[in-house]
Amino acid sequence: MKKIKFADFDVSQIMLGCMRIGNKTEREAIRHVRSAFDMGINFFDNADIYCKGVSEEYFGKAVKGIDRDKIVVQTKCGIRKGFYDFSKKHIISSVENALKRMGFDYIDVLCLHRPDVLMNGYEVAEAFDSLENRGLVKCFGVSNFSSIQIELLKKYVSQPILTNQLQLGLFHTGMIDSGMCVNMKNNFSFDHDGGILPYCRLNDMTIQAWGPLRSKNGFFPQDDELVKENEKLEKWGNELGITKEAVAIAWLMKLDFVQPIIGTTDTNRLAQMLEADNVVLTREQWYNIYSDMGNLIP
Ligand SMILES: NC(=O)c1ccc[n+]([C@@H]2O[C@H](COP(=O)([O-])OP(=O)(O)OC[C@H]3O[C@@H](n4cnc5c(N)ncnc54)[C@H](OP(=O)(O)O)[C@@H]3O)[C@@H](O)[C@H]2O)c1
Repeated sequence: MKKIKFADFDVSQIMLGCMRIGNKTEREAIRHVRSAFDMGINFFDNADIYCKGVSEEYFGKAVKGIDRDKIVVQTKCGIRKGFYDFSKKHIISSVENALKRMGFDYIDVLCLHRPDVLMNGYEVAEAFDSLENRGLVKCFGVSNFSSIQIELLKKYVSQPILTNQLQLGLFHTGMIDSGMCVNMKNNFSFDHDGGILPYCRLNDMTIQAWGPLRSKNGFFPQDDELVKENEKLEKWGNELGITKEAVAIAWLMKLDFVQPIIGTTDTNRLAQMLEADNVVLTREQWYNIYSDMGNLIP
């Protein structure tokens, strides 16, 4: 499995998203996570809110017996029921509770899940320092942050912000479109997030791509509005010897600063998508797939 450098870790470029594993039985969830690890994934994403903590609990059980330094464990905090909370108290207690649920002494990466407009930067800084000094968290990231929101956070915290987890996939390409259509009078040129893609690259941050299969009406393989696009992706899949879902993953992997987070809870589907790892798209193929999905290459 292709590895990239992330902080001091060698991580699989593909991550496993654990958001829905808490919906499965404990046995199924454990088998799925173990299979992912056996297939070469060593970087796992979770959050305190996923299945009300059950996803973290099952994940902890799944990796029991694996050397702790063989896996990179990430979780997120800051979303509460109906509001966001970056208070020192909430950040610290979220990590303490996540550690209890997972049965670990530390987590490798803590991400702030969604920007809290009411954030007091000094409190976040105190929370990060305390978690780091107590050895509970090794490094930090954010999720769904714009460039300027990351700059604001960096004004206060001393730890590097190593990643930004953002929705990115063949059917959610805003951050790519805007860079392709600079200064044009069309919808593609609209920059929603303050140049978040070049911003992350400029600051040596990875982009963790959540929802790699998502489309307007759910997930593209089952989206009735995307019949033509699915046919085209199937054709690409046939040409490359992989499934259309794997084409979507290979397309993301061509960007070496992007880590696709695969969210399926079906181990067979996961195995098929991991075939993406054996494919390196040419530059021409990458652009052609992008335009085949209805995007503009001016
Ligand atoms: N930071 C954030 O705000 C945020 C938001 C959402 C997610 N995330 C993270 O990103 C991860 C991935 O997100 P996601 O789960 O939305 O991503 P995804 O990989 O795009 O979607 C996975 C979902 O698609 C379904 N699916 C439907 N058809 C499929 C097919 N043909 N092949 C494979 N899957 C198919 C899966 O169902 P089956 O399970 O039945 O295969 C599963 O429910 C999450 O687990 C979580 O860790 C982060």
